[in-house]
This record gives sequence, C-alpha cells and structure tokens, in this order.
Amino acid sequence: MTMPESLIDRVPVVPVVVVDRVEDAVPIARALVDGGIPVIELTLRTPVALDAIERIATEVPEIFVGAGTIVSPQQAKEAAAAGAQFLVSPGSTPSLLRAMTDTGLPHLPGVATVSEVLGLLEAGYTEMKFFPAEAAGGAQFLGSIHSPVQAARFCPTGGISPANAAEYLALPNVGCVGGSWITPPAAVVARDWTRIAMLAAAASAF
Ligand code: 3PG
Repeated sequence: MTMPESLIDRVPVVPVVVVDRVEDAVPIARALVDGGIPVIELTLRTPVALDAIERIATEVPEIFVGAGTIVSPQQAKEAAAAGAQFLVSPGSTPSLLRAMTDTGLPHLPGVATVSEVLGLLEAGYTEMKFFPAEAAGGAQFLGSIHSPVQAARFCPTGGISPANAAEYLALPNVGCVGGSWITPPAAVVARDWTRIAMLAAAASAF
C-alpha cells in the first residue's frame, strides 16, 4: 500500500505523549496547538490512553491525534475505534502491518535495521519510524543509509532532544523527529500548560 498522506512532513517535531490522568489529555492537546504543534502521538502505555485519544479527538478537533506504541494488532483496532487519526508502532511485524492497514488510517511502522527498511519498502511504505533512534545508530545510521536506500524517509524517535534534533532534521531522509521532551512529566503533573505551549513553540521553530 502507499500512504494516503505524508505523516512526517507536517511538523518538525511530533510530541510523543504519555498521559496518566485522562483529564490532562485535552489541556495538553490545546497547549500543543497554542504552541504551534497541531499533532500529538498519544502512546498506548497507560490504562487511560484510549480514553485520552477519544477526548482529544472529540474536544480538540484542530489537532491531528494519533496513537503511538501500537505493539499488537488489537491495539490498532482499539485506537482507530477511539478516534485516532494515525497510528505509530515501534516495530513492523506482518500482523501489525496488516492490522494497521486494515484500519484504513495512515500509519508509521517502526524499523531499526536496513533489512527492516527494505521489507517496508517492498510492502509499499516510504515513511517509517526509526526507533530507538539514538540507541540504534542515531543520525549517523540514517545519514549512512540515505545513499543506498533513497526511497525511505524517516521519523526518528527515542533519545531525541533539543540538543540533537537539528542534526536529524538536517538529513535529507528525515521529515520530522518524535520526542517526549515537549511534555515533561513534571510539567504535566503540575498542570503547567504554559510551559508545554512554550516547549511546543520552541519545537515548532526547528
Ligand atoms: C517513543 O515511543 O517514540 C519513544 O519512547 C520516545 O522517546 P523519548 O522519550 O526518548 O523521546
């Protein structure tokens, strides 16, 4: 399949967000929009994640809300039912690819090796998540594979911060980076939405 639309050319930094209290979801999404980042990847890592996606999809229509950390076919279905508009997985097993494709939603499967990249290209994907970016070879890895594997483009995630984001974004095969630094747990616990809007504004300027 080919992706219906680019997922990696919308914003320079996709916030990867963990929500523990469902009531934080909407204010976080609004703060990201206020800061100029109208995209959120809500990770399915907490029991409230699907409810959080549903609330954001209903109450903050101006944000493009996706579900991250899809590690089972069932989660792809559940995320779509909750209102997710895109899906992100750290991996790319055949059953995950099938389940994500079956939702009809744009999605980013994950890769960490050249063979995985080639496998996704064979399956028709040109956009993929590179995870865990820093641990799996970082910007040097992506820079090294651009020439032999030119069709693949990436959203690296995992270990990315304001200190190294620009290095990734300068690569020709990187559309955006993903990172959790825009919604630091301390700011969420303190309900410091202004801080999150400021971090989003800084990230939107990359
Ligand atoms: C992800 O799910 O993409 C990563 O866990 C985010 O990685 P980070 O916390 O290092 O930004």
